[in-house]
Amino acid sequence: MQVYLNGSYVEHTEAKVSVGDRAFVFGDGIYEVIRVVNGRFIMEDEHMDRLDEGLAGLKIDLSKEQRDQVADIGRKLVSINGLENGQAKVYIQVTRGSAWPRTHTFPDSPVEPTVYLAAEPFTPHKKLHEEGVDAITVSDVRWSRCNLKTVNLLPNTLAKQQARDAGVNSAVMIRDGVITESPNANIFGVKDGVLRTYPASNYILSGITRQAVIAIAKEENIEVNLQPIGEHELYELDELFFTGTTTDIQPINRVNNRAIGPGKPGPVVQRIQTIYNAKLAGG
Ligand code: PDD
Repeated sequence: MQVYLNGSYVEHTEAKVSVGDRAFVFGDGIYEVIRVVNGRFIMEDEHMDRLDEGLAGLKIDLSKEQRDQVADIGRKLVSINGLENGQAKVYIQVTRGSAWPRTHTFPDSPVEPTVYLAAEPFTPHKKLHEEGVDAITVSDVRWSRCNLKTVNLLPNTLAKQQARDAGVNSAVMIRDGVITESPNANIFGVKDGVLRTYPASNYILSGITRQAVIAIAKEENIEVNLQPIGEHELYELDELFFTGTTTDIQPINRVNNRAIGPGKPGPVVQRIQTIYNAKLAGG
């Protein structure tokens, strides 16, 4: 696969970054993942706006010219890697760039941000969408700026691995007694026909898919209550599901081996899945 790194399109095995790169030594960078369906970038503007928020949040100075090229670089990668038909995902990462010596403060003289993009084929998790998945609860040990999509993902990867080690698909993260999100997706609950999800704040990544689901709910006259779901309310919910760019809409059947509702995908999540899938397909 060809990737893009700092102005060049190269084979992914040939793409190299410096040991001085701030993302390598400090995790000083942000990323985005955009879904591509038959060459169409899904909710591109929303992803690019969030990229801008991340750059501003970390005070990474990407020139307007470079910023405006990012989506077209992604499109070129989709094309040169033969991914225009079917499903793909584009990964975008921007770091503060490479500086030496290592200092916690930003480099004295401005450095060029590192810009990296990759495109890969993507297969939706159809079986998991139809059958639902199981999860465990874990403590949300992340920092308090989770709204920024930074490459600092260690709490997320550890939680996801903890879930795998427990023999389940993913984790439901709990902070201060309430459900925040999963290591790589947002979480919605359903109680008496009302959707519940954590409000957009610095304690979650406000997912683009989350926003799409809230918009679908409004179109469908499904009430949305942005009150966090308490851990104590978890097993009283009728339905629970994950949302994300690569997760899509994924029902959760059981948490910590206890059934949510009847322990199988319910009517609200199935209705939202149908509408979301039609939108992805271009409907
Ligand atoms: N993850 N919350 C977290 C912590 C995430 O990492 C993600 C996405 C989401 C869902 O956001 P969106 O709907 O915008 O994809 C929520 C990406 C896909 C990843 O890390 O690969």
